[in-house]
Amino acid sequence: MTSEYLWWRDGAIYQIYPRSFQDSNGDGVGDLNGIRQRLDYLESLGIDAIWLSPIYPSPMYDFGYDISDYENVDPVFGTLDDFDALVAEAHARGIRIVLDMVFNHTSHLHPWFLESRSGRDNPKRDWYLWRDPGPDGGPPNNWESTFGGKGWEYDPATGQYYYHQFLKEQPDLNWRNPDVRARVLDVLRFWLARGVDGFRFDVVMSFFKDELFRDNPPALKSPVGLLRAFDRQQHLYDRDRPEMTDVLAEIRALLDEAPGRSSVGEVDDMDMAVRYAGSGRLHMAFNFDFLGTRWLPRLFMESIRNYDEGIAPDAWPCYVLGNHDRDRLASRFGAGPFSDARAKVAAALLLTQRGTPFVYYGDELGMVNTALSRDEILDPPGKLYWPLYQGRDPERTPMQWTDEPYAGFSVSPPWLRVNPDHTRRNVVAQETDPSSVLNTYRALLRLRRQSEALRHGTVRFLIKRPVEGLAYLRETPGQSRLVALNFFGWAIDLKLDGALPANRWKVVFSTATTDVPRIMGNRMRLQPFEAVILEPA
Ligand code: GLC
Repeated sequence: MTSEYLWWRDGAIYQIYPRSFQDSNGDGVGDLNGIRQRLDYLESLGIDAIWLSPIYPSPMYDFGYDISDYENVDPVFGTLDDFDALVAEAHARGIRIVLDMVFNHTSHLHPWFLESRSGRDNPKRDWYLWRDPGPDGGPPNNWESTFGGKGWEYDPATGQYYYHQFLKEQPDLNWRNPDVRARVLDVLRFWLARGVDGFRFDVVMSFFKDELFRDNPPALKSPVGLLRAFDRQQHLYDRDRPEMTDVLAEIRALLDEAPGRSSVGEVDDMDMAVRYAGSGRLHMAFNFDFLGTRWLPRLFMESIRNYDEGIAPDAWPCYVLGNHDRDRLASRFGAGPFSDARAKVAAALLLTQRGTPFVYYGDELGMVNTALSRDEILDPPGKLYWPLYQGRDPERTPMQWTDEPYAGFSVSPPWLRVNPDHTRRNVVAQETDPSSVLNTYRALLRLRRQSEALRHGTVRFLIKRPVEGLAYLRETPGQSRLVALNFFGWAIDLKLDGALPANRWKVVFSTATTDVPRIMGNRMRLQPFEAVILEPA
């Protein structure tokens, strides 16, 4: 572990969904100049980098995750000049820029696909996954789309099917074609030359598919009630293929050509989160385990332990509590009168782990899902599965800056309706409240920056079978911090297994009062929903 401060390892990364952060030109959609106007806020929050969900030209079937030109900016977000200005001003404040790269697929309107589709002998035919119909004239195999329906779309003009893991407007690239590979690396070089510090690789585990296009076997457990046929298969052949190893090495070598660059890959499960990160691979791979963990201390402890024990010594861990694909954490862990109190405990949990925290915009305000009606839903899987699944719009609504009609996000009706709770839940209101979720994030981010134990110390749990709360030590040879979290709305006495390394501890952070006696022998008293950090006195 080097002592030099590395932004992606020691810092926190903030995810911006550009459509929803700040609109600067009054069209109701967020843009790059809007983000630039909010750099003061981001600096005051204390994050080290921003990751921007896709900003490239796109017909927006999947709101930017369907790219039609990798080397430009969609007019709705601005221009390349706006992007350069954002990079320069962010860098001047010590904020790094991470771009979202979607290379599993392009838009169906990308010129590469238009060419590929134009004829069987077009030179770009092999840039995508074209196959003849199956023996019955139907799809070539049983692969399903993540967003619902078959993974294959028939193209009558050329008499073949193309594969799309997501929408039919998102055809998958053929990663076995060397020209595709070379071209993708050029795209990375293009953005690196513009000063980008890192990349987030969308569904990086899906780039390669089975060479023989074998059928996926059915899922082992009978998943009654699952909406998608996709979930009723074991994904042996349409993802996570061994060929990916070489590509990861190639990407890593390119990033390593200059110091200070980083990468994070989106993968599906803990096993891949462990395998896709490390030397010769990506710097980090998303650990989404917290996104599916119920609000019980034992489950979080087990999740942290499994990951910590599984991850290779040369890989760096990371933690995620929210993103643009999942319900807001404040809604997942239980909305209602205690949602802010829980959001603060969740913040303390996230920001005291050994691993880079990813913070989704608005989670630092305790933003909750926005209830939208059927006709307000824009996300394709939401439209398809409504009302059983409402899609991802509820967690993508505009950032809540003020109590004004459009929450200070825009002067016009936004592309998605703002949450009505913005009249009380907004940045302005939370700025002046020392105990707000926002100020809790600020304090925790500051503490993390200042403490090597919180940034990269080992983690040691102090309760074997936690029921109401967690207690753990973060330790480096020279420093220790004790973190204790009460997950519930009543005062608790945590019983620690074993003695603490120091007799006296002083509170450096608490979401409740700071002056109550806490540690008596092996017992520790916590107020309702209290998160506390202590250091040896
Ligand atoms: C990833 C993105 C998601 C997108 C999908 C297809 O899972 O996070 O938003 O729809 O990939 O690109």
